[in-house]
Amino acid sequence: MNNASEVVKLNEPLISKKTLRDYDFDSKRVLVRVDFNVPLDENRQITDDKRIVAALPTIKYLLEHHAKVILCSHLGRPKGKIVPEMSLKPVYEKLCEILPGITIKFAHDAVGEDAKAKVNSLNNGEILLLENLRFYPEEEKNSPEFAKELASLADIFVSDAFGTVHRAHASTAGVCEYLPSAVGFLIEKEINALDSALNNPKRPFVAILGGLKVKDKIGVIRNLLSLCDTLLIGGGMGYFFLRAQGYEIGESVKTDEESIALAKELLQEAKEKQVDLVLPIDIVVGEEFSNETKYYTVNATKIPKGMIGMDIGENTIELFSKYIKSAKTVVWNGPVGVFEFSSFAKGTGEIAKACAESGAVTIIGGGDSAAAVIQMGYEDKMTHISTGGGASLEYLEGKKLPGIEAIQDK
Ligand code: 3PG
Repeated sequence: MNNASEVVKLNEPLISKKTLRDYDFDSKRVLVRVDFNVPLDENRQITDDKRIVAALPTIKYLLEHHAKVILCSHLGRPKGKIVPEMSLKPVYEKLCEILPGITIKFAHDAVGEDAKAKVNSLNNGEILLLENLRFYPEEEKNSPEFAKELASLADIFVSDAFGTVHRAHASTAGVCEYLPSAVGFLIEKEINALDSALNNPKRPFVAILGGLKVKDKIGVIRNLLSLCDTLLIGGGMGYFFLRAQGYEIGESVKTDEESIALAKELLQEAKEKQVDLVLPIDIVVGEEFSNETKYYTVNATKIPKGMIGMDIGENTIELFSKYIKSAKTVVWNGPVGVFEFSSFAKGTGEIAKACAESGAVTIIGGGDSAAAVIQMGYEDKMTHISTGGGASLEYLEGKKLPGIEAIQDK
């Protein structure tokens, strides 16, 4: 699989930005910003190569169109310093494995002598991967000089790092000042999926939000309240809403006055907009935050003092699943329990199952919910699983993404 001679399926163009179809890439040096920020284990082996695989349609298209492909990415947060453990070398090795027969080179810097020399020796249909962009402090500062230097390596810039388009960095936004630009197929696919769910959803439209803090997702909740018919809230965030209704939540989350006030406002907003905001009705509680702790299920309005809410209970699973199964569009962001502990993964697993069986258009935000769906084995049953955690969240908030805004309009 994955060799460059496979035919690449093209998405229908939807977004207003220039795409790969707008350029002739023959013999051109094409700088492609990808998101190869992949997880590594202690032996620096890649534990999940989805982000690399997700970039392949763009890479293959450019190879087939005889471009000289220069890939650039960040990995981790080295804070502007060279951190050998965060080198992109393991990604280079993975690329060689999944693109056999293609000449792939690795530059030990991103804008230095090695990168320049290797760009100059690049032939059509070959790939060069640059070293971690975040080894340079100028990258995250969106330094114009750095962006210009990066741009000087190429003739055309392609943005395909969906996971990083919410960052205004030199390689995501700044570089567009100096080169003709386009979005790649991954960004098109992500935007198409998110856009069709948000702008023209088949109804009923059910949104599921989980994850930790209400403050972090306030923008998303607000935006979704204007769009969806039902909002199911679970996970850490649910406890803020239960508290806002005056119920005891034990030690489930640390609440603060501001978050409780926000949750009250949102409950009111849901009422005004006639959106069903549905909270858990029962909760699996544990004595300690651990997989081995003793646990049992209680009514969500009666979490005992000292106990920690770890997952949604059976009745909530049934209730949420009923909404999900009658939906035509589902957008899900954030797990509904502590799914990384097997004892408390049931709620999130059952929500994933309900989404998989719903027959609805199912859009799964990146990050934890994507990881949960994949871990539970429902990956192939979803319409779209985003490769960007932060990016998809900001898109759901209705925010403009700087890495897409900077690309040339059609
Ligand atoms: C991600 O993993 O969400 C992206 O690669 C962005 O990484 P960052 O949060 O370190 O900017």
